Amino acid sequence: MDLEIHPDQLKVLPHHQYITPDHLTPNNVLPSPIDQFKSWFKEAVEGKLVQEPEAMSLSTATASGIPSARMVLFKELDPRGFVFFTNYTSRKSKELLANPHAALVFYWREVHRSVRVVGKVEKISQKESEEYFHSRPTESQVGAWASRQSTVVSEGEVHERLYRLEQKFGEDVPLPEFWGGWRVVPT
Ligand SMILES: Cc1cc2nc3c(=O)[nH]c(=O)nc-3n(C[C@H](O)[C@H](O)[C@H](O)COP(=O)(O)O)c2cc1C
Repeated sequence: MDLEIHPDQLKVLPHHQYITPDHLTPNNVLPSPIDQFKSWFKEAVEGKLVQEPEAMSLSTATASGIPSARMVLFKELDPRGFVFFTNYTSRKSKELLANPHAALVFYWREVHRSVRVVGKVEKISQKESEEYFHSRPTESQVGAWASRQSTVVSEGEVHERLYRLEQKFGEDVPLPEFWGGWRVVPT
């Protein structure tokens, strides 16, 4: 990519053409946006072209409307909406507790598609979070206990905490009360 770098400015020179081979019209999409998403997601996964099709940007906002965004992993979709998992004390969760409006963007560059979802969130049930949590490798389960999201911690501190938690739980790691899923319900 051609760049121009100056002491106080960086410019991306405009040689990238954004391609949209599928011309979207009401006639070539499914009546249900959820069905359309499922069909596109399946294609993105099966074609093996898209590196991380489940990576999505999640936008939240404070109660006064100041936005922030970050990447999370899409995990489940049913007629109620799109589920991701996180720490309930993280910045994103605090914002969602104060303001339930959220937006998602998937960008599948390799197949020239992107999807936007706008909706309101709800916490998924503890039972649903339990099911997902216990399907994860033990290492990730301990990681959920050890991670203090949205806070600054030293490398040594994290390793020390991971070690202590591994000793404490062994193979039987319970779901932390501060961890679970959010569902974005499209509006
Ligand atoms: C590709 C990718 C996927 C990620 N998936 C998740 C996720 O599923 N859940 C999560 O809590 N953080 C995930 N993260 C980390 C978040 O982007 C973010 O750094 C962290 O959750 C803290 O966000 P917050 O301070 O805005 O709450 C992911 C990061 C990347 C780059």
